[in-house]
Amino acid sequence: MRSYDIAVIKGDGIGPEIVDEAIKVLDALSLKDDIKFNYKEYLMGGAAYDATGDPLPQETIDGALKSDAVLFGSIGGYKWDGLPREKRPESGLLRFRSALGVFANLRPVKIYDELVEASTLKREVVEGVDLMVVRELTGGIYFGKPREKSADKAYNTMIYTKEEIKRIAKIAFEIAMKREKRVCSVDKSNVLEVSQLWRETAEEVAKEYPEVELTHMYVDNASMQLVRDPRQFDVILTGNIFGDILSDEASMISGSIGLLPSASIGGKIGVYEPIHGSAPDIAGQGIANPIATISSAAMMLRYSLNEIELADKIDSAIAKTLHQGYVTGDLAKYGAKKVCSTSELGDIIAGNL
Ligand code: IPM
Ligand code: MN
Repeated sequence: MRSYDIAVIKGDGIGPEIVDEAIKVLDALSLKDDIKFNYKEYLMGGAAYDATGDPLPQETIDGALKSDAVLFGSIGGYKWDGLPREKRPESGLLRFRSALGVFANLRPVKIYDELVEASTLKREVVEGVDLMVVRELTGGIYFGKPREKSADKAYNTMIYTKEEIKRIAKIAFEIAMKREKRVCSVDKSNVLEVSQLWRETAEEVAKEYPEVELTHMYVDNASMQLVRDPRQFDVILTGNIFGDILSDEASMISGSIGLLPSASIGGKIGVYEPIHGSAPDIAGQGIANPIATISSAAMMLRYSLNEIELADKIDSAIAKTLHQGYVTGDLAKYGAKKVCSTSELGDIIAGNL
């Protein structure tokens, strides 16, 4: 019997609802296979702040480090918007990523054939899109110092060391080797020194991967190209804030931000979470799309637990469910057969395993 310890962080807003569905699907897998998941819940974000006064209690970091992987929902909400920065839910998440050293955030964007009509872009533009955003996650302007805000002046620092760029570039090239062998590095090197170093370093790393084609794009152009012709991309390599913005943009290619998973790797323990936020406006209504989180659980099996077959099973069950016409409300407009609640959709996906 293979047994895995999963640290579960449900978080705020829709987090608990969507994580429950991912656990439902994992448990359905374990009924059929010789595998067992042991879950332990930890607090982060607003929920942690309310309970302990700290959006990232030490216990959560320790618990995550003792586990085999972290399954995470989402954090944040209007309720905590007024708090000082270091108490905000988002600070908890950023400190968590940093503490675990997960510098590489993989955000795959695929279009399910059944949902081509759900995309805000035309069929002929999005059909067959399959790209991977590799976002640097523990550096850049999110973490750069100095940073300061006073009443009439504020600043942040976008900083990357060569080492930080090298290691994320290597991940992008390794991933490209298993895909179409094309990396597009996105920067703003026509304006920023930090981007010049980014570009030079990407070129250096590329020498170790002669089979992979490396191109460069400025981030403004990349954001335009993503909606003009998203199929041109295989792997997009970029920094923290550009990757944050581009991956939200790319998510709409697929029809709903509720579909896209992510894996944060490169540290001791991988963190698996949907790319979307906590959606406080729809929390507690049972209407959130659980697919991004269920799909993140599949990434967890793939990248942290090396259970590739089981990961494939989950991905197929999701595809089958969409093929059968079952969706949540975010995708309701597009001629789906049945609009399901969050937990109904989880049941159907679990059944389709
Ligand atoms: C994400 C989120 C986070 C980020 C926020 C919640 C801090 O938008 O995971 O994309 O900016 O990284
Ligand atoms: Mn984001």
